[in-house]
Amino acid sequence: MSDFSLEQLLGGISPETFLAEYWQKKPLLVRQALPGFGDWLDRASLSELALRDDAESRLVRFIRGQCLLDHGPFEVDDLAGLPKKNWSLLVSGVNHFLPEGDALLHAFDFIPLARLDDLMVSFAPTGGGVGPHFDSYDVFLIQGQGRRRWEISAQDDLEIMDGAPLRILKHFHPEQSWELEPGDMLYLPPQYAHNGVALNDCMTWSVGFRVPTAEDMVGNFLNYLQDNLKPAGLYSDPDLKRPRHPAEIPTTMLDQVATMLKAIHWDKKLVEDFLGGYLSEPKAHIFFDPPERPLKAAAFAKIVAKQGLRLDPRSQLLFRGHTFYMNGERLDASPEALATLQSLADHRQLPPTVLVEPLLPILLEWYSAGYLLPGMAR
Ligand code: SIN
Ligand code: CO
Repeated sequence: MSDFSLEQLLGGISPETFLAEYWQKKPLLVRQALPGFGDWLDRASLSELALRDDAESRLVRFIRGQCLLDHGPFEVDDLAGLPKKNWSLLVSGVNHFLPEGDALLHAFDFIPLARLDDLMVSFAPTGGGVGPHFDSYDVFLIQGQGRRRWEISAQDDLEIMDGAPLRILKHFHPEQSWELEPGDMLYLPPQYAHNGVALNDCMTWSVGFRVPTAEDMVGNFLNYLQDNLKPAGLYSDPDLKRPRHPAEIPTTMLDQVATMLKAIHWDKKLVEDFLGGYLSEPKAHIFFDPPERPLKAAAFAKIVAKQGLRLDPRSQLLFRGHTFYMNGERLDASPEALATLQSLADHRQLPPTVLVEPLLPILLEWYSAGYLLPGMAR
């Protein structure tokens, strides 16, 4: 995990300087950010991931100038016999299936884990790509096998082509262009127009970030309020007067409902609890695999004392203060458990540790749910 050199990853710039000068502001090209990078996956192993129903995959083809988009899971035959040129297979959430991918994603932990989304990997033969576009999120594009030409533009014209199944820019005016070799990396801020074209069999690894829309956050918060607020009282009207128009909604009714609604309030503590659950909630297609024959407490403690433990790559563990959010579930940690749980959340693993109360039952429960595994990442 810690094999990545942050200094090299950012081309000798400190994370602080990167955040101050580049993050959400301007592109950065780093030659040899990850020297020797690129052989964790090849076309065949990426294609295998694209057959899984717990992976999100897409196939983009350009045929006679027309863009075609198909969503996975694919059948073996869908991916065999593809043309020699001009297509791309993209698989999201590769960090969930590939421990090295999980480690690569978390090498970017100079940005809060609450902002990290996932690692997407694409394969494209010569000419393949997804067309000129922009993304709503920041992205680090890391070149794996092969070479790709990236063209980028700070253009304000972000008009999208009508009728295409992908969001492709109507007018793209490249301002800068580079050929990326294995291990090179390009950072792009949100809304930055870009186009990556494979120059030969090429794999690109994209570290992407979460950018919830205000609409999504507010909608989810309102659902949370609905589940958590338990307003008391019943509508009542002991002083009811006979109406002139029986069909007219009475003013007294309107006033009473307005008063009821005004009583809805929330504080930062409630927002905090909502956010912890919302940010750590697994995506809809994610399921955990509890161990078939779970170890009992003593055996679990023994193996953790010898080998440590690690989060399942699908797990999201966040915290604020002494409250932890593991895959959408909340846990209030006692002071004795706090430092160890913080360390587990920050590093996604624990070195060999002697587990005693109150940690043992917490970690045993998470292990039994499939949220964590004995043994550290290799
Ligand atoms: C790709 O890997 O081809 C797509 C990356 C991107 O442009 O967002
Ligand atoms: Co993009």
